[in-house]
Amino acid sequence: MNEYKDEIDKRRTFAIISHPDAGKTTLTEKLLLFGGAIHVAGAVKSNKIKKTATSDWMEIEKQRGISVATSVMGFEYQGHKINILDTPGHQDFAEDTFRTLTAVDSVIIVIDGAKGVEAQTRRLMEVCRMRKTPVMVFINKMDREGRDPFDLLDEIEAELQVRVRPLSWPIDMGQRFRGVYNIHEGALNLFTPDKQRVTETVTLTDIHSSELKTHVTSEQAEKLRTDLELVDGVYPTFNRDEYLAGDLAPVFFGSALNNFGVQELLNCFVETAPSPRPVQAEEREVSPYEPAFTGFVFKIHANMDPNHRSCIAFVKICSGRFERNANYRHIRLGKTMKFSSPTAFMAQKKETVEEAFAGDIIGLPDTGNFRIGDTLTAGEELHFRGLPSFSPELFKYIENEDPMKTKQLAKGIDQLMGEGVAQLFVNQFNGRKIIGTVGQLQFEVIQYRLLHEYSAACRWEPINLYKACWIESDDATELENFKRRKAQYMAKDLAGRDVYLADSSYVLTMAQQDFPKIRFHFTSEFE
Ligand code: G4P
Repeated sequence: MNEYKDEIDKRRTFAIISHPDAGKTTLTEKLLLFGGAIHVAGAVKSNKIKKTATSDWMEIEKQRGISVATSVMGFEYQGHKINILDTPGHQDFAEDTFRTLTAVDSVIIVIDGAKGVEAQTRRLMEVCRMRKTPVMVFINKMDREGRDPFDLLDEIEAELQVRVRPLSWPIDMGQRFRGVYNIHEGALNLFTPDKQRVTETVTLTDIHSSELKTHVTSEQAEKLRTDLELVDGVYPTFNRDEYLAGDLAPVFFGSALNNFGVQELLNCFVETAPSPRPVQAEEREVSPYEPAFTGFVFKIHANMDPNHRSCIAFVKICSGRFERNANYRHIRLGKTMKFSSPTAFMAQKKETVEEAFAGDIIGLPDTGNFRIGDTLTAGEELHFRGLPSFSPELFKYIENEDPMKTKQLAKGIDQLMGEGVAQLFVNQFNGRKIIGTVGQLQFEVIQYRLLHEYSAACRWEPINLYKACWIESDDATELENFKRRKAQYMAKDLAGRDVYLADSSYVLTMAQQDFPKIRFHFTSEFE
């Protein structure tokens, strides 16, 4: 028996993801409230909570009022250790969220009951599917007029490409919303629009009993019975293995703002969601129960304290036990390092810890040693596979505005790219640096951070590009021919891989036709 098994089994490390405004922050706050991690009495405006419940380490985040950073919130609940990884809601920082998804063992998706599946949810779910991450769905804002629950479930199945199984069912919605029937536990949870208190629960295992009508109107009772029959007829029974394989998503309905349906979600979550799962390294699969420590960096957060120029590297522990001041191997640098002040994130506070276990996230103070994707081990030569980089959507040349600060600029760009703020491509023809991002806001973040953290002024110059394609071929001559023909459009990414920068979809199609032996990839990692 592994000596850390109990510690590892009680861990639940997950992220809450949603399209902005669906209620991710509100749900996070309520989960923290149930977990006793915060003690704000209910009705706190979510954007106030945004300032306290989530991190605002970066100046820019304060300025813009959006969460640029990803933070971690840990708390104990019913004998479990819960680690919630927060993700930035703004779509321009979607890459940050993608990377966070590499460090979680499961995901809760929040969907706005009136809006259904939205763009950002779709994209994030693609990453979950790719990694076979188990997902639970919380359909939020049932206190508002929304869409028919069956329609919503159809849409989730079609658009998110996952089978669903409702484990709770709403009784009406909007003004007439009466509560949810907890199919999972056979209990009726009655709704009183009250942000202060948790609502009344009535155990009602037989929904055909006349007692139902004492709580809801006759029409509502009748509809609930028919709906539940339909639910049982249409949806598969809940099977935990299918959920763990990422094939079946349990669905809950509720209203995060009103504290409603959240406890059911949390209870089912701690029971059902996976403890740390095995992680695939290039060399082999690593089990969390292996005694030797392994982990990888999924996020780097710069200058959390503006008075000290330092970063924090967020490490997901994949196996074993991490110990303060023990010697660990930084695989990419081939260096042995020890960490005297690793931090854990409990109840919004970070504190130095002596040890941490598989499933946990620790923060390691860093002065430029780490990059996204770096592996740390107790000695074994292992490389965890990170998430591939996706082709950026927007591209700009970055130019130096201050000739006296060339070095600072180069260092700043190098470190920001290592943090994964955006992608750097160096054009092999003219040596110019091109930055690729998902959204306009990232350019502003880079410019701001270069100036404030590195005293380096930069300006952007337009470049007309359509896509970045990572290229490869089994035919070395063909690859050389291609590179020669497209010399002006060839670049190297941060890891030194060949990237073809296509300036339109037409030239890309032509290139694919002219060079059939070249494989064009829109992500940086391929089999
Ligand atoms: P996000 O993190 O996913 O972006 O969403 P957030 O929790 O900030 O919620 C977005 C808005 O939706 C907030 O309103 C929040 O109060 C509201 N909301 C969240 N859950 C529910 C719910 O169950 N029912 C209803 N009716 N509204 C909900 P806001 O007006 O943007 O902010 P605020 O002024 O209320 O703070």
